[in-house]
Amino acid sequence: MLCAGAACALRVDPASAGDEGLEAAAVRWGRFFGSAVRVNDLKTEPNLREAVIRECAQLVPEFEMNWNEIEPAYGQLSFGKIDDLTAFAIANGKNLRGHTLLWHLSVPEWAVEMLRENQDWNLIARYFGSVIPRYGDVIGMWEVVNEPIDPGQRVDGLRENIFLEVFGPDYIARALAQARRFAPKAQLVINEYGLEYDLPDERDRRYFLLKLLERLKRAGAPLDGLGVQAHLDLRKGHISQSAVARFLQEVAAMGLSITVTELDVKEADYVATAEERDRQVADEVRRYLDVVLSERAVTGVTTWGLSDLHSWLEITKDDYARFAGAWTDGAGPGFNRGLPLDSSMRAKPMYFAIRDALWYVKPRPQKRRKKVAVP
Ligand code: XIL
Repeated sequence: MLCAGAACALRVDPASAGDEGLEAAAVRWGRFFGSAVRVNDLKTEPNLREAVIRECAQLVPEFEMNWNEIEPAYGQLSFGKIDDLTAFAIANGKNLRGHTLLWHLSVPEWAVEMLRENQDWNLIARYFGSVIPRYGDVIGMWEVVNEPIDPGQRVDGLRENIFLEVFGPDYIARALAQARRFAPKAQLVINEYGLEYDLPDERDRRYFLLKLLERLKRAGAPLDGLGVQAHLDLRKGHISQSAVARFLQEVAAMGLSITVTELDVKEADYVATAEERDRQVADEVRRYLDVVLSERAVTGVTTWGLSDLHSWLEITKDDYARFAGAWTDGAGPGFNRGLPLDSSMRAKPMYFAIRDALWYVKPRPQKRRKKVAVP
């Protein structure tokens, strides 16, 4: 049992949704549930290990597989942490998602310099060749390019990163083809954020991403799916259910699978009671998953960590400043409460919102869809 005391109070209809955890609920509609993990935490925290074993089918290294972690200096490859995670995954019947091959924020400095100097694709080929085959079938899904969109820079909406600078916009198709050579069976995906709200920037992001996916499919690039990060943010208001639904339908209509890859919720109001905060987080997750899980092309959901204790979402100085004086000496808001388990590993309303959505939201029957206009 993961929940205890007050944390259980909001559970709805436990008998129907099952009491066996998130993965057990996900398989009802042929989906999976998973989470990002930090390898060190997994090693040192038995409670986390237990929760991961119980709740997850897919594990994602939170940062340990980034290029700058694996190869901090040219040719100096360090796979220790990912090898440990792989051993854990195999021992417990889990699969891994490869996060992430090309990401502007994880390119080692030496590689930036070398790419700029030599303009040589072999550096990418060599890197893919040293990482991808090593993990064989344990990694069923590779995020080949992470966060390629950045509206407001170029007419095609592509992010101006080192790969674009050196190889041009074609770097994405090239990277997919390169990955396919080493991973003939894995799902190859592009991963992106900022796709949920009816805000100008996010409207542009959806538009440019759809255009990119369309170009890649038309060119016959080996792209199997899209990862939507889903870092929800209560400071932005509510997600737009209609925009998300239309966007996912467009992606699905291209024959792509969709995975929610980094679900979590940044809170807006740290002064409310824990119960109220948990309710706001869970309501927003429900609103989001209601729409997302009705889309048949969605294969699974992973959260960006299981427990608030391990969340990358820290309460910032700005957050504290917004609520200056709200807390008595020594008190504070605690952790951001945007993950399924609290910092003591107890299930919160967000946990039950995910579990109920995975269990109850029935994917719409597949039909031939008319082409919908790009939002
Ligand atoms: C974050 C990790 O959670 C942090 O631990 C790390 O320091 C920085 O990156 N989108 C991504 C993830 O694709 O890799 C990011 O993870 C969160 C945003």
